[in-house]
Amino acid sequence: MLPVTSSRNIDKNIYCNIPIDNPKEIHKKVVSLIRDHFSDQQEFSCLDAGCAQGSFLYLLKNSLPDKQIHMTGLDIHKELLNILKENIKEAITIEASLTEKNCIKSTYDAITCLGTFSIFDDFKEPFENLYSSVNEGGILLITSEFNTFPIDVIMRYRDVRNSPSSWEKGWNIFSKVGIENLLSSHEADFEWVDFKMPFARAPHQEDPMRTWTIQTNENSFQQVNGAGQLVNQSILKVTKKRSKI
Ligand SMILES: C[S@@+](CC[C@H](N)C(=O)[O-])C[C@H]1O[C@@H](n2cnc3c(N)ncnc32)[C@H](O)[C@@H]1O
Repeated sequence: MLPVTSSRNIDKNIYCNIPIDNPKEIHKKVVSLIRDHFSDQQEFSCLDAGCAQGSFLYLLKNSLPDKQIHMTGLDIHKELLNILKENIKEAITIEASLTEKNCIKSTYDAITCLGTFSIFDDFKEPFENLYSSVNEGGILLITSEFNTFPIDVIMRYRDVRNSPSSWEKGWNIFSKVGIENLLSSHEADFEWVDFKMPFARAPHQEDPMRTWTIQTNENSFQQVNGAGQLVNQSILKVTKKRSKI
């Protein structure tokens, strides 16, 4: 049994019940970045870390049918990996925690880690685990809430309707400046690709932590959650440079 101190138990229940063919809007943007990066390549490998039931890999496979993509999904919950395997038979699955050193044994042309970093209290260790597994010339794409102010935020929350209620992880926000400092010691190019919800979403009655949108002066569809946070997601795109010969 893996240590689960760095994960959220609620993810298993939530994602077991979300259909694999129900892609998130930000996943579509990530697919378009992968499409652009590998436009000249017929074949490449992709690891989705924190893959849940596999909805991103499912979208990637169906969005790029002309490419041969060697797919791997990594997650801490075996039940979620089983759903991925049922739907994408050729995918390799890895049950591991991204916070454990050497959790990834191979290297990949593309690595994605979507909506998962906000669970971790530290950015560096899971980042290094992922970055060290990217092939030269390959890309690492991380989606999360990132802070434009130089402030890292750690969150704990609980639903008081559950008794006894336990504190859940998630919704941590790492500052872009702190991440840029970390990236400066790597042979990598990076860019922030901002993401905005393209349509309105209503609050979810049963789960107040599922984001919905409100209208503000700056944003017609500002995402918020039941902790009163403004949720501003970006995609961090890191390209590993090829070493000079
Ligand atoms: C909020 S969900 C995001 C799922 C999916 N990537 C998406 O964007 O829809 C976070 C995922 O990370 C997984 N996870 C949580 N802690 C983890 C850890 N320490 N190592 C690997 N996966 C973890 C959860 O099981 C869950 O599938």
